[in-house]
Amino acid sequence: MGRGSGFGKTILFNEHFVVHGVPGIVSAIDSAADAEVKKNGKGIAVEDTRKGAKGYAEKKRIQQKESIERMLKALNIDPEKVTMRIWLGGNLPGFSGIGASAASSVAIARAMADEFRMDLPDERINEIAYEAEKAYAGTPSGIDNTAATFGGLIWFKRNLSGGPNTIERLSIREPVEIVIGNTGIVANTKAMVAGVGERKKKFPEKYNALFKQAEELAFTARKALEEFDLRKVGKLMNENHRLLQEIEVSCKELDHLVNLAREQGAFGAKLTGGGGGGCMVALTPRKELQEAVATAMEQQGFKVLRTKIGIQKL
Ligand code: PMV
Repeated sequence: MGRGSGFGKTILFNEHFVVHGVPGIVSAIDSAADAEVKKNGKGIAVEDTRKGAKGYAEKKRIQQKESIERMLKALNIDPEKVTMRIWLGGNLPGFSGIGASAASSVAIARAMADEFRMDLPDERINEIAYEAEKAYAGTPSGIDNTAATFGGLIWFKRNLSGGPNTIERLSIREPVEIVIGNTGIVANTKAMVAGVGERKKKFPEKYNALFKQAEELAFTARKALEEFDLRKVGKLMNENHRLLQEIEVSCKELDHLVNLAREQGAFGAKLTGGGGGGCMVALTPRKELQEAVATAMEQQGFKVLRTKIGIQKL
């Protein structure tokens, strides 16, 4: 049997903008998807045991099937000829926005490589997971699979001409507590990404100005993170949320959780991932603040994840 894992992630700056070549900052979190692959049986059977938002697995099933076929093709294996059982688990919940699809793709790619006795470097696993991500996100930037493969805190810039993307590891003094709050709405990342693309074409002046602001913000945020100026990082997250609202990827439930986190003293809060539902992230240094923000959300019936950014290993 082959085994593999992939990190969950939170995008701290510039989801969506990153699809169009603006730099983004992503951090792996201390939860992961695990996969086991065993050649046997008829066709390709998937047993998904991940704890998820209600309906997540059902809504993503067709995309998941396509993603597995894409990975097999990338490995030069004919999906029509191979039979295997894939088991998915791990402690990363199936929430939208925390890279559940990318983490599971990386886990499955590693488990397949293990089962088929292929010794693949992480760079290759990352490429295979990127192929899989196309099934979930249409034209993914590659930021999710990169974080799921390598872990840690990463500066990512997509190369729009098809060359290698810029992937730089950032380091911060110590891991910092965050709260990820889930609206409970299963979002369709593919539709959200396509929507931004359409509006960008329709309103070039407005969107170009917003994209320019997002680009400048990324550089300022990188500096603030490296200097460990967490107050500033939080303010910039708030600013990033405003830009995301302007490109119409937030929703009232996300705005509600973002405001609630700020009221409870979070240094900053924003949506994370594809938006339109899914999750938000709040910067809550120290356990007490993290607990206050997380509890306030739980008291209103939302599911949360208490985790940290800047963790290098699971
Ligand atoms: O919702 P998630 O966790 O799949 O994140 C999507 C991030 C986007 O920037 C919206 C798309 C991408 O491929 O970068």
